[in-house]
Amino acid sequence: PQDDVAAPTGHEFVVVSNRLPVDRVTDENGNVTWRTSPGGLVTAMEPVVRDLGCVWVGWPGSIDEHIEPFTVGGTELLPVSLDATEFAEYYEGFSNDTIWPLYHDVISPPGYHREWWDRYVSVNQRFADAAASVAAQGATVWVHDYQLQLVPGMLRELRPDLVIAFFLHIPWPSHGLFGQLPWRRKVLQGLLGADVIGFQRVADAANFRSAVRRFVGAPSNGNMIVLSERPATRGRKRLPARRVLAQEFPISIDAEAFAELAASESVRLRARQIREELGNPEKIILGVDRLDYTKGIRHRLKAFSELLRDGEVKAGDVTLVQVASPSRERVEAYQHLRDEIEVTVGRINGDYGTIAHSPVVYLHRGYPREEMAALYLAADVLAVTALRDGMNLVAKEYAACRSDEQGVLVLSEFAGAADELRRALLVNPHDIDGMKAAFMEALRMSETEQRQRMRAMRRVIFRADVARWSEDFLRSVEAAAEHRRQTGGD
Ligand code: ADP
Ligand code: F6P
Repeated sequence: PQDDVAAPTGHEFVVVSNRLPVDRVTDENGNVTWRTSPGGLVTAMEPVVRDLGCVWVGWPGSIDEHIEPFTVGGTELLPVSLDATEFAEYYEGFSNDTIWPLYHDVISPPGYHREWWDRYVSVNQRFADAAASVAAQGATVWVHDYQLQLVPGMLRELRPDLVIAFFLHIPWPSHGLFGQLPWRRKVLQGLLGADVIGFQRVADAANFRSAVRRFVGAPSNGNMIVLSERPATRGRKRLPARRVLAQEFPISIDAEAFAELAASESVRLRARQIREELGNPEKIILGVDRLDYTKGIRHRLKAFSELLRDGEVKAGDVTLVQVASPSRERVEAYQHLRDEIEVTVGRINGDYGTIAHSPVVYLHRGYPREEMAALYLAADVLAVTALRDGMNLVAKEYAACRSDEQGVLVLSEFAGAADELRRALLVNPHDIDGMKAAFMEALRMSETEQRQRMRAMRRVIFRADVARWSEDFLRSVEAAAEHRRQTGGD
């Protein structure tokens, strides 16, 4: 460690992400409860962390509250607090109104504001300081996602003894788009503090290496980026020449856990109840997403409403259940999206519904995992029509739950899952006619073909589950650490 930083006797393994796996929620009466945090990162990392026995550094989801470290399910959690300005500028601003839209191919225009950037820097520093304070000498620190891209570089400055890994859960855009970012070099340098940087898709890793070549001038040899020595300058130590692995590691789920859940009597009973409560339609199409403009919910609704208009499907025969969990509700683009979706759902039900049947059932809330599994079992078709998505774990959860080998997955080519789930009905969500045709094919598909496709997809998911993902990733991290030990970093 650097002279001025005492080496803490801490944890051998530290996970750092913007959110902790649980969110602190205070209701109107001031009662405090904890609930599972939203999103794919937590779904994937929960089982991994349980096995690692580590400390998890993250934000507890509340504002202006200092919370002492605590333990959940054997994992120690170290909360990093955010005040109202940090929440507005670091989380809602730079993370979710600059980086998020930029990395999702500018589906919504990113805002570039210098105050947001300054706050992103200072909050990243707080996370880096917190991680450094609990990491043992030579520990491995695994940093996650776009909110914390500067943390690897900051950690390397603070603690050159650490092995630093980073995983990006969302896409990495082409260098043409990434080049818009006024702080592009600083972001790349922040990430390059890591020994290993993991991406969801082959294309994401290639885009990243190309941005590094162009904006930092560092070449790569295959997946390995080659960084030259940084000489000592006033206030900054010499950093030796080193290598950074930038490679795809497609994330997954605990497939076995989802399968077990879906096999339970209560979930199967609930699935039958759901169908009954919906009036026993012939077919149910399901959508499950955070209410996010990247998910292509509008495009899905448009295709479905045209099928109703054309008389291809009828209210009562086919029901679209859209579960949309609330997300980033104070960010303007999300508010517009919500308004648009809710107006559209109202219009479809007004135009095509009957007294007995609404063609679209729209649920704007989060559900326990049991209810999600029951919905998956009840659904004949799962529609994943993202315009851009790092992976999309919902697609994998659906297949993991379907041990009956029935059900059809309609899957966007622009979701990372499309690289692996080749037997889904792959669609381009911008092509509304193509999507309508895929929905009709899904609704009419024979049981035999459903079985063939579902079996193939389940084979992929059970083989490449989240345990395998973390093993592969951490094996590469260990190899990088070993290389550094042998070469002294050079
Ligand atoms: P993202 O990370 O962008 O939210 P993913 O599809 O990768 O997208 O992961 C979403 C996760 O959140 C999945 O585990 C899914 O089951 C869960 N989820 C989504 N919507 C809901 C909801 N309404 N209630 C409960 N869990 C949900
Ligand atoms: O990678 C997807 C992701 O952005 C995760 O970082 C996060 O867990 C999830 O979506 C939910 O978003 P938020 O933390 O902004 O509610």
